[in-house]
Amino acid sequence: MLRRHITDVLIIGTGAAGLRTAIEAHDFGAKVLLLGRCKHGDAHTNLATGGINAALATMDKKDNWLIHAADTLREGQFLADPDFVETLCRNAPAAVKELVKWGARFAKDKRGKLIQRFFGAHAYRRTCFFGDQTGKEIMRVLLKQVEKRKIAVLDEIYIAKLIVKDGKEKGALGINMRNGDIEIINSKVTVLATGGYSRLYARSSSRPFENFGDGVAMAFDAGAELMDLEMLQFHPTGMVWPLHMQGVLVTEAVRGEGGILTNAKGERFMKNYDPERMELSARDVVARANYNEIAHHRGTKHSGVWLDISHKNAAYIKKRLPKMYAQFKQVGIDITKQKMEVAPTAHYSMGGIRTRLDGQTKIKNLFAVGECTGDIHGANRLGGNSLAETIVFGKITGRAAAKISKKTNVDEIETEEINDAMNKIKKFQGKGGVKPSKIREELQKIMWNHVGIIRDGKNLELGLKKLQILENKSIKMKVKNIQDLIDALDAKNMVLLAKLVAENALLRKESRGAHYRKDYKNMEKHARHISEINVNGKSRFYYKRTPKPKGGLKELVKKQDVRKYNYVE
Ligand code: FUM
Repeated sequence: MLRRHITDVLIIGTGAAGLRTAIEAHDFGAKVLLLGRCKHGDAHTNLATGGINAALATMDKKDNWLIHAADTLREGQFLADPDFVETLCRNAPAAVKELVKWGARFAKDKRGKLIQRFFGAHAYRRTCFFGDQTGKEIMRVLLKQVEKRKIAVLDEIYIAKLIVKDGKEKGALGINMRNGDIEIINSKVTVLATGGYSRLYARSSSRPFENFGDGVAMAFDAGAELMDLEMLQFHPTGMVWPLHMQGVLVTEAVRGEGGILTNAKGERFMKNYDPERMELSARDVVARANYNEIAHHRGTKHSGVWLDISHKNAAYIKKRLPKMYAQFKQVGIDITKQKMEVAPTAHYSMGGIRTRLDGQTKIKNLFAVGECTGDIHGANRLGGNSLAETIVFGKITGRAAAKISKKTNVDEIETEEINDAMNKIKKFQGKGGVKPSKIREELQKIMWNHVGIIRDGKNLELGLKKLQILENKSIKMKVKNIQDLIDALDAKNMVLLAKLVAENALLRKESRGAHYRKDYKNMEKHARHISEINVNGKSRFYYKRTPKPKGGLKELVKKQDVRKYNYVE
């Protein structure tokens, strides 16, 4: 069966970025349709644990948005666009206050003042939190606002293709994941809020069924520009044991609350990598340190390092880190008494779709917001900045999308365009061939082994060859039911994206933030983006200098140059 929908603004993705965009677009007079592949309310944002950043100065009076921006730029190794960083940090305090006004139960002291905790590489305490379930709390509040406004929501719809004609976005073709029906959505404006691509990796803090990068791949296919895809953040602390929980996030809040890292010899090894900031160093530094300890046989039985918070009061741990307490209790570890075994896990995509500040992509009427975009975090994202990004840029993008929709007419999706999209989807389906889930699993291993935390040219080239073989294998895939079809579409997107990530990593002949090359250990003098566009089915790559900060931000970062870290191999 085929169903048609018409809306002013179509938002693909029902995480925090999508919800906040929807609220704003609605409040600016647009008819909005929110659509996601997950079950109602079950977006990846629920997994965001430790907190949301805003320079509210509730704990440290000297903090302000400029210092937050300087921290963000510097720790992102100056690859982020200063205008995006400024927008994020300037608007985060109001965004957090708005969430509180809407009922977010962030931690407060007895006098009602918001409590802010330390997160890695921040000059001051500026992370607001709800225990260690901050994302879930933000989702609860945003969903309530969406319901209050009676915004239309369609859950469990898989978007298979954007419909673009003459460089203009006009809607999308979706598959109803419950019954296989085709959903054609005609929109004046479409916003991608589809999340990142950290599930290209075997070990990831995302659940097994999300963050395959579908929105990024579809945008590329449609002609949008992508940038800095090689900038994939590895979180220093994911679970390692038992195997089925490998990669599950152990929040940075553990270290923010005083947790320490030791190796199997009992050494507090961060003193060798960043003696000043120790466990609260930047994420890329701690991730590489953990990796290095394990690689040099100073790891634990299950190839991890130890993270310990048991020196803190048990009641305090349970109050500040209830999710971590339950997560480890479930596998027989009491974190109030015992150490956690942890290792790096693929966590966040800092590269993605290039947009303007208001979310507009290169394709007319196509916007993007949240983790599927690039330009905000540079080469290393500060913990707590992603939740802030979803709320700040969701609001800006929602408003811009609504404005454009008022000046745009619906361009009806023709039967011919539907048939064309359907043919592209059917092309790779067959009875023979490889099972799509096999393609996915092989790809995740290749990415982990060849495009991981420590990279070098030869290994990247080998990885690319393996991805090419995988691409050939995926020309026809075994598709017997709706789930296979979704898996096959994901596999196609994943192969496309994995190749682009590996190609970008090969092109970036320097080490900067999360991208560490053994064969190019130094950082180039000037930060450059590596972008790509799709020209008649072929990727075209090019470099672009990152703009320099201006005004107050320029003065501030001038005094605080990029830090030099030890990397003891
Ligand atoms: O460790 C964490 O709680 C993650 C936070 C983030 O990625 O922002």
